[in-house]
Amino acid sequence: TYVITDACVDVNDRNCLTQCPVDCIYEGDRMLYIHPDECIDCGACEPLCPVNAIFYEDDLHGDGRAYLTVAAEFFAQTGLAGGASDTSPAGQDHPLVAALPAAAT
Ligand code: F3S
Ligand code: F3S
Repeated sequence: TYVITDACVDVNDRNCLTQCPVDCIYEGDRMLYIHPDECIDCGACEPLCPVNAIFYEDDLHGDGRAYLTVAAEFFAQTGLAGGASDTSPAGQDHPLVAALPAAAT
């Protein structure tokens, strides 16, 4: 699966959503999450993110590695599945994401 990492937090550019052929990128509150069981590894989203938040799971490094687990737990927590455009945004984040300090602007 591809994985969205913390660079997305409070950016939420959403450009990644536009090209996903299986509609598996779901909105939390502060970031978006790729459903690991629905992503078909097409890779279309990766170059579309202006802040390079998206990685193939094997390419995750450093703190980004945690986001593979974050995504799995987010979908277990919210039950979101079956297509992002057919479901409402979660309006919540994984606890690790919710606890991140707001980015200095
Ligand atoms: Fe969609 Fe990106 Fe996976 S475009 S299928 S989430 S690699
Ligand atoms: Fe986030 Fe980048 Fe998508 S900032 S919403 S992963 S385009």
